[in-house]
Amino acid sequence: MPGAIYAEGLVKTFGEVRALDGVDLDVPEGTVLGMLGPNGAGKTTAVRVLTTLLRPDRGTARVAGVDVVAHPDAVRRAIGLSGQFAAVDEYLTGRENLVMVGRLYQMSGRDAKRRAAELLERFNLGDAADRTAKTYSGGMRRRLDLAAALVVSPPVMFMDEPTTGLDPRNRQALWDVIQELVAGGTTLLLTTQYLEEADRLAHDICVVDHGRVIARGTSDQLKARTGGERIEVVVHAPEHLPVAEGVLRAVAKGDGAVDPHTRRLTFPVTGGAKLLAEVIRELDSRGVEIDDIGLRRPTLDDVFIALTGHTAEAARDGGDTPADGDRAGAATTKEGVR
Ligand SMILES: Nc1ncnc2c1ncn2[C@@H]1O[C@H](COP(=O)(O)OP(=O)(O)OP(=O)(O)O)[C@@H](O)[C@H]1O
Ligand SMILES: [Mg+2]
Repeated sequence: MPGAIYAEGLVKTFGEVRALDGVDLDVPEGTVLGMLGPNGAGKTTAVRVLTTLLRPDRGTARVAGVDVVAHPDAVRRAIGLSGQFAAVDEYLTGRENLVMVGRLYQMSGRDAKRRAAELLERFNLGDAADRTAKTYSGGMRRRLDLAAALVVSPPVMFMDEPTTGLDPRNRQALWDVIQELVAGGTTLLLTTQYLEEADRLAHDICVVDHGRVIARGTSDQLKARTGGERIEVVVHAPEHLPVAEGVLRAVAKGDGAVDPHTRRLTFPVTGGAKLLAEVIRELDSRGVEIDDIGLRRPTLDDVFIALTGHTAEAARDGGDTPADGDRAGAATTKEGVR
């Protein structure tokens, strides 16, 4: 049985750029797929194809069992979308924006108002609820847009970089809302540039680069491929580097890096806090003065280096998104699904 979001061989080109270069996806009902990738990887293009805002050149996709090219209207009725660029009506207040969405989805006036009030509270917009959205900050618009996507709980949701630009408190609030949605049976595709976010929310993760899925698996599986945890030490003086390197090599699970300029040593380890304490004692007993030490979990860059041999930064330099491509996306989202 194909999942609630299913795609096979999706190709989409813009002139010379192959934004999607044969993407396959299969997201079982009631689960979250985290789509991870640097700028220009093709995440938004994939979301736009799956939400019927863009026709693929090749390949097929079904959402909630319905073909996105053959029956876009039926697909739109089954999905919710929060696009990468907030699509709120500037001239309405936050509350009016949400009530309007509820009414569009045929809620009664009273239900729409109740749901709006609930969501405004959830996203910490209570105080600003009756101001026009024009006066909102970037993060507030983002939150209002997310709230709008959650007015009704459709069976399948798409969120394109939902937490980019949110402060930690609001990011946490959104994570909580997402977890509730999924507990209620919603299937979600979420794009992100943060491994940590995919880690928190996603059952499965696919890593996209240059329009292709270059890896998929659970977050543990992906991290295992990057070598897992690292220990990072910054020594106080360059002459302490060789001794510190010896100490770290003795406990490391693979090759690490020593940067003489920043006096930073980074080595893959397993063993967590206990090992960290041992390393501190060992360095101390050998008279190595430490400026900083800690355990670091793999970042998106680590995943990228492990998978592609280049950093996400380098991929970004190779394929960035033109500004008018962005605006086209925002405009389409606005008139599109909602
Ligand atoms: N409307 C468009 N016209 C021309 N090129 C486009 C258009 N939309 C996307 N592209 C190109 O397709 C590629 C993938 O873009 P996409 O927006 O899907 O990337 P993304 O992974 O969402 O990136 P970001 O993290 O920056 O949002 C990029 O090279 C981009 O320049
Ligand atoms: Mg994008």
